Amino acid sequence: MVPTYNERENLLVLVGRLDHALHGSYEVVVVDDDSPDGTWRVAEELARRYPVKVIRRVGRRGLGSAIVEGLRAARGDYVVVMDADLQHPPEVVPLLVRAADETGADIVVASRYAQGGGVAGWSRARLLVSRIAGLLAHLLLPEARRTSDPMSGFWLVKRRLVEELKLEGRSWKVLLEILVKAPGARVAEVPYVFQPRGAGKSKLGLRAMLDYVIDLLRLSEYRVLKFAAVGATGTVVNLATVAALHGHVPDAAAYALGWEAGLTWNYLLHDSWTFRGKRRIGGPWGRLLYWLRYHEAAAAGFAAYMVVSLAARLLGAAYLLAPLLGIAVSFAVNFLVSQHHVWK
Ligand code: GDD
Ligand code: MN
Repeated sequence: MVPTYNERENLLVLVGRLDHALHGSYEVVVVDDDSPDGTWRVAEELARRYPVKVIRRVGRRGLGSAIVEGLRAARGDYVVVMDADLQHPPEVVPLLVRAADETGADIVVASRYAQGGGVAGWSRARLLVSRIAGLLAHLLLPEARRTSDPMSGFWLVKRRLVEELKLEGRSWKVLLEILVKAPGARVAEVPYVFQPRGAGKSKLGLRAMLDYVIDLLRLSEYRVLKFAAVGATGTVVNLATVAALHGHVPDAAAYALGWEAGLTWNYLLHDSWTFRGKRRIGGPWGRLLYWLRYHEAAAAGFAAYMVVSLAARLLGAAYLLAPLLGIAVSFAVNFLVSQHHVWK
């Protein structure tokens, strides 16, 4: 399926090349949002010569919803999503199909970042932005770690899987939505070289990058924000404990006990809220086991906290400021370990 907006010239070339690459056993679903350049009209003309199905949406725009609509309208066992602008070489489509046949994977991602893939003609800056965007997906969504190119707009999915999922297409990153909603689906990859755009220009600008970050947060159910909110309350518990122990025990012991109080408090909130439903072992034993695992996970954070707190104290920081600095440093360490190793 091909979403289009002002891609008249590109679509002509694309369908010809797809036909050549696939010899007959295919259908192209074009979802066009009433392009001012008349892409839908070109698509309708193409439909007389090729197996092209045209969906012209009037009064509606959005890449994500166009993709979802195209996925639903497709009839084959496999559906491939790709740009119309020839950045995604049509000749790679048979390779995606073959990978699906051979591996039995439910999703096959055409990847720029798999061994053998690449991008043609990108500046270092653009490559860096793309790499950071991919890294962000890997950090915030463990489900996205199944592919080296979570931002890819070129991928195959089994239609059966699409039918099982309630896709919304609110985000233009439909692949991410599928990866999150189908955590058990198997993913394979095919490397390819991303080509320069054919005619016309990109529809996705800076605004799309911002939307992307918001979508990542939404798809992750705002976990990192919840984690931070819980951490803030845990900080209060930690410091209150430290304050209560002031003068009764050595500073190091007070800081360590404060950490334990905050840690257990955080754990209970993370388990019932931040990572709700992510614990694999239910019941009180599961809760106890994960509490122990959380200690293990927080070990690195604890080390960072103690070193920073005591160093700050030695350097003259106030009694309660020192552990606060320690907590700040341990936060990032804790979040990543929790998400990727405890409630994974
Ligand atoms: N129907 C419809 N409605 N199609 C749209 C819309 C829309 O609102 N906006 C864009 N499209 C179509 C374009 O015509 C093109 O075929 C495809 O969707 C992707 O849009 P581009 O404008 O070509 O996006 P891009 O090349 O900047 O971004 C691509 O590369 C990214 C990776 O760097 C896309 O493939 C992204 O998905 C990908 O992440
Ligand atoms: Mn494109």
